[in-house]
Amino acid sequence: MKYDVKPVLRSRPRRNRSTESVRQMVRETVLLPSNFILPLFVCEGKGIAEPIKSMPGQARLSVDRLVVKAKEARAAGIPAIALFPKIDDAKKDSFAKESFNRDGLLPRAIRELKNAVPELTVISDVAMDPYSTDGHDGLVRDGKILNDETLPILAQMALCQAEAGADWIAPSDMMDGRVGYLRRALDENGYSDRSILAYTAKYASAFYGPFREALDSAPKAGDKKTYQMDPGNRREALREALLDAKEGADILMVKPALAYLDVISELRRQTTLPIAAYQVSGEYAMIMAAAEKGWIDGPRAMMESLIGIRRAGASMILSYYALEAVKNL
Ligand code: PBG
Repeated sequence: MKYDVKPVLRSRPRRNRSTESVRQMVRETVLLPSNFILPLFVCEGKGIAEPIKSMPGQARLSVDRLVVKAKEARAAGIPAIALFPKIDDAKKDSFAKESFNRDGLLPRAIRELKNAVPELTVISDVAMDPYSTDGHDGLVRDGKILNDETLPILAQMALCQAEAGADWIAPSDMMDGRVGYLRRALDENGYSDRSILAYTAKYASAFYGPFREALDSAPKAGDKKTYQMDPGNRREALREALLDAKEGADILMVKPALAYLDVISELRRQTTLPIAAYQVSGEYAMIMAAAEKGWIDGPRAMMESLIGIRRAGASMILSYYALEAVKNL
């Protein structure tokens, strides 16, 4: 059957996509170098860059190499890095005591960085898992993760990091009340100038797998479901956000990013604090692996994923791809 009535269209959205210059002018979301935070893994030794198998292109860096990387990030316009230490097994215990050793790996790294690249914002993670023989973010007793008993440990860890020069303290542990507890500890010790980047909505996610390999920090028993959030919940993220805001958080984070874009968007609309999103290790690994197989265009998939996170409402994105992303802009 033949049908060729001429359509009468007043609106033709394609006009706004017709050329690259038009597309540029109507683009609603752009990525800037200043939107990125680069997470880096630090290890003992000198001259070391130990590749992480499940995160192609990423490595555990000794402090000297870390400083070089940090300078590179800063030169590329990235304003901040987030640090994660690989602690030797011999230094782990059930109380994570190494996490408040002033001469420990992380405080040493922070000091070197603040010396070498003072204008770079240094973010340090607060949680017990990299330092704990149990591999949990909180203190374990009889198979239970204790909340209130964990808080003083987190506070000592945060103070040790602040003393070393960390600009932003980032509790990733998901214990109740930790933002207020850390805020008070910092203020009482003369660190009211340090910010708290709260891992507000951190989900119990399969996407942390490569990170746990990188730090050898997986839980020895059980899982993290009694403290990290259930992937089915969005309203609960808002509940956490309102609490963190009230307790004094400066920035709220959603993690992982890609599977939780609605949560980013919800927090963006319902709170006035800046929102950060963490494109976690598994999100990075997934795209890199498919690209290695030649199944997707890696850089394009990565940039699309990052702009989606920004479009959802994140002011800043923690991404292992940050340096490459900035080069692609
Ligand atoms: C530790 C912590 C984790 C990540 C950041 N901080 C792992 C976890 O909670 O098991 C994950 C980051 C990533 O996967 O890239 N509390």
